[in-house]
Amino acid sequence: MPQIIVIGAGGQIGTELVAELRKRFGSQNVVASDLGETCPTLLEGGPYIQLDILNREFVRSYIIDNGIKQVYLLAALLSATAEKNPEFAWKLNMEGLFTILDLAKEKHIEKVFWPSSIAVFGPTTPSDKTPQHTIMEPITIYGISKQAGERWCEYYFNKFNVDVRSIRYPGLISYKSKPGGGTTDYAVDIFYKAKEHKRYTSYLSEDTALPMMFMDDAIRATIELMEAPIIKIKERSSYNLGGVSFSPKQIAIEIKKRDSYFEINYEPDFRQAIADSWPNSIDDSAAHNDWGWKHHFGLEEIVDIMLNNVQPK
Ligand code: NAD
Ligand code: SER
Repeated sequence: MPQIIVIGAGGQIGTELVAELRKRFGSQNVVASDLGETCPTLLEGGPYIQLDILNREFVRSYIIDNGIKQVYLLAALLSATAEKNPEFAWKLNMEGLFTILDLAKEKHIEKVFWPSSIAVFGPTTPSDKTPQHTIMEPITIYGISKQAGERWCEYYFNKFNVDVRSIRYPGLISYKSKPGGGTTDYAVDIFYKAKEHKRYTSYLSEDTALPMMFMDDAIRATIELMEAPIIKIKERSSYNLGGVSFSPKQIAIEIKKRDSYFEINYEPDFRQAIADSWPNSIDDSAAHNDWGWKHHFGLEEIVDIMLNNVQPK
């Protein structure tokens, strides 16, 4: 069994990714790590270490001394938070990646997963069924850091044969853990507010369609990509990944079908400009053709699952 570490494991993706990796590879083989001194409850089923990805020397010695062979590097600032602290976002999103890519270049690590995002695209990108290879002129610091990261991943693969794999996640929807400061977070918040107050004020306008995905699909995609034979991985920047695509109005209609008292109103804020610069929908035929990707969850299923499972305080 490979020794695996998930860095930034306490966040929206990490909590569910760690659980799935432990199921597949054994609890003791998957180390969860994050900034906190104590292990978050959802990560309690296996080893946990307090680790700051910006502490390069500590990260290097932990990975080398413990024979870690696969790294899932999730620690980052997301789009909305990054706009509030661009310098730190750039530092966190880039330096951590170099620490891990260098360990792989030195052959301490065999495989790296590093997530990119739909944020690599910008206002000049074709916004419907955005192709795998197209114009990429991101306007957010988050998108710029992800695009730069993609270029570095491909460079390390070409120059140093580093087996780094990546997905451009769309907005992710989950009920086990909450999102951590992205522009797509509304698509999770809306379910909490629907159950708590039967009303939601959307910070995106009613017709802002964005690519989205249910977390189970995203976790499955991540593990399928990492398990795919090396010969099948043709994109070493990052793979487009399609799921569903919907606007605040469309998700509100689905919620209202299940709860007629639900109401939504719209007060767009600074996140509107970020969302406007991102695609409406994604063409993921490269992921489909190369390693067999296919999403399972549609909007109606997602709404059913979320309304049945979110636990408002
Ligand atoms: P999140 O904000 O929920 O979690 C990030 C985790 O990283 C947090 O638990 C945080 O404590 C930890 N962290 C922050 N700084 C750290 C540091 N210095 N050292 C170690 N850990 C640190 O984020 P997420 O939604 O789970 O996203 C994970 C990755 O996936 C990010 O790279 C993000 O850009 C990418 N992504 C997420 C989405 C999404 O919709 N969630 C979409 C596209 C891409
Ligand atoms: N969900 C992420 C965000 O909104 C997309 O990368 O920042």
